[in-house]
Formats: sequence, C-alpha cells, structure tokens
Amino acid sequence: MVSHSRVSIVGAGAVGASLAYALMFKNICSEILIVDVSPDIVKAQVLDLADAASVSHTRIRGATPEEAGQTDIIVITAGAKQKDGEPRTKLIQRNFWVLKNVIGSMQPIRQDAVILMVSNPVDILTHIARKLSGLPANQVIGSGTYLDTTRLCVHLGEIFDVNPSSINAYVLGEHGDSQMIAWDAATIGGQRLTSFPEYQAIDKKAVSKIVSGKAMEIIRLKGATFYGIGACAADLVHTIILNKKVVHPVSVYVEKYGVTLSMPAKIGWEGIQHVYDVPLSKEEEERLQSSADALREIEQLY
Ligand code: 2OP
Repeated sequence: MVSHSRVSIVGAGAVGASLAYALMFKNICSEILIVDVSPDIVKAQVLDLADAASVSHTRIRGATPEEAGQTDIIVITAGAKQKDGEPRTKLIQRNFWVLKNVIGSMQPIRQDAVILMVSNPVDILTHIARKLSGLPANQVIGSGTYLDTTRLCVHLGEIFDVNPSSINAYVLGEHGDSQMIAWDAATIGGQRLTSFPEYQAIDKKAVSKIVSGKAMEIIRLKGATFYGIGACAADLVHTIILNKKVVHPVSVYVEKYGVTLSMPAKIGWEGIQHVYDVPLSKEEEERLQSSADALREIEQLY
C-alpha cells in the first residue's frame, strides 16, 4: 500500500463523484472514503462507483466526517455550485457555512493531513479552511487556477499546433473573474511565447475571455462543470500521494500578496513544498496585484 494514500472526498455530488472516478483509475489510493450530508447520495455514489472499483481494484466506501478527518488527504467539494451568470464569489455566504460545518464535523483533523479545497469560491474557501482547520498554510491547498491553466494550454495548443502538455503557461490569481494570464513568462520548448510570429496575432483579451468564461459556457449548456475539475483534483491528489514534486498553479497563502491565490507551486507529501515567483511584466504584476486586492477584500471578512 502506498503510504499517505487514504483519501476522503467530502461532498458526493457530481464533482466529488467525478474526482472519485478519476482517482480510482490511477490505482494509487489504498482507500477512498465518500462523505456527504445525504446518506442516500453517499449510498448511491458508493454503490455505483463500487461497480467501477472492481475494475480499478480501489476500495471505496461511505464514511463519517470523523473518519474523513483521519485520512491523509481530505478533498472538500461540498457546497452550492454556480448558477448560469452567477460569479463564484456570490457563493461565499452559503459555502462559508457549509465549510464551517464540514471542518467542525471532521475534528479532530490529523495534524499531518492535507486539505484540498475544490468548492467555490475556492481561493476564499481555502483561506477559511486554513483558519478553521488550524493546519499549516502549506497543508491547505485549493485547486485554484489549475483548471483555468489547462483550459489556456488547450487553447494555445490549437494556436501553436503543439500538445497542451508542452506549453508552459499559467493563469494566476483568482479562480474567477479577476484571474490573469502570465504571457511574458510563457514558453514552448524553452522559447518565449512572445518570440513566436503567431503570438503577435493573438487577441489576448479574447483568449482571456474564452479561458475565464469556459465554466459559464458549460454551466449554461448543461448546468454544471465536473469532469475538468474532477480530473484536476485527482491529478493534485496523485501528485501529493506519490510526492511527485510537480509544479501546478494552485491556491495557497502567498506571503508576497498577503492573500490566498494561485501561483505555481511544487506539490508533494506535505502539500506545498515551494511557491515560485513568476517573472511578470509591469502590467501583469499590476493585474495580479488587483486580483489579490479583489480577493483580500472578501478574505478579510472571514
Ligand atoms: C470551473 O471552473 C465551476 O469552478 C468550476 O469549472
């Protein structure tokens, strides 16, 4: 059994179930616990996922919040989801109370556990989870702009005719409307994106709108997003369990801005092992600072 590999998913809705499903096929968890306020939802998801578990050899079961508090990695997907046209920050009132109840019901939380926040607004809820859990900042992470960054790299992959995994570019700041793209630091094959002829033709505002607006487009069409965020969260859990030290843009408390937002961070067993200070142009630094300011305005209320 791989150590650090007992994972609990608190919130058994579409995101939680998509995460469990993605995680099962990575075959790295010794056990996946599913927790939700609705016993019927837990039973339904576990019965359904157990049918897949026979293929993936992962043990999966319903559990109590107290049991979740004793697992190595606690992924929190519980909470209300965005409606069509609703910014993520509008969810804070409802999801603050959901998170407060979730954290309270799991206590005492293992002191070496890693909490991965996924519920929205993820940056602010990561800040709140850190305060409520009392865990060190490096052990409380949010999925942040990891999903936005994958969306950006898929889009740039089409423009530059390159596999998205070979595009080194980041969306930083808020997982939300004030996010920004670090164009100046982006590279392909070690070559700066800004040096490519295709770059000059890029409508950066349009790309930013496509990336930051993708969730709302999906929500408008099918009511919610879950596969993208489920896969990103599963990848982050994978990186933690195997101490892979992969760098992803995730939501974490960043001393420089005094706020919880997404910056590229090295991730392993104990959560965040290092936060990288991306070289930004003056204009990009100002945009990241305004994203931090927008988040701080709300974070300081909690
Ligand atoms: C997403 O970006 C809704 O935050 C979720 O897909």
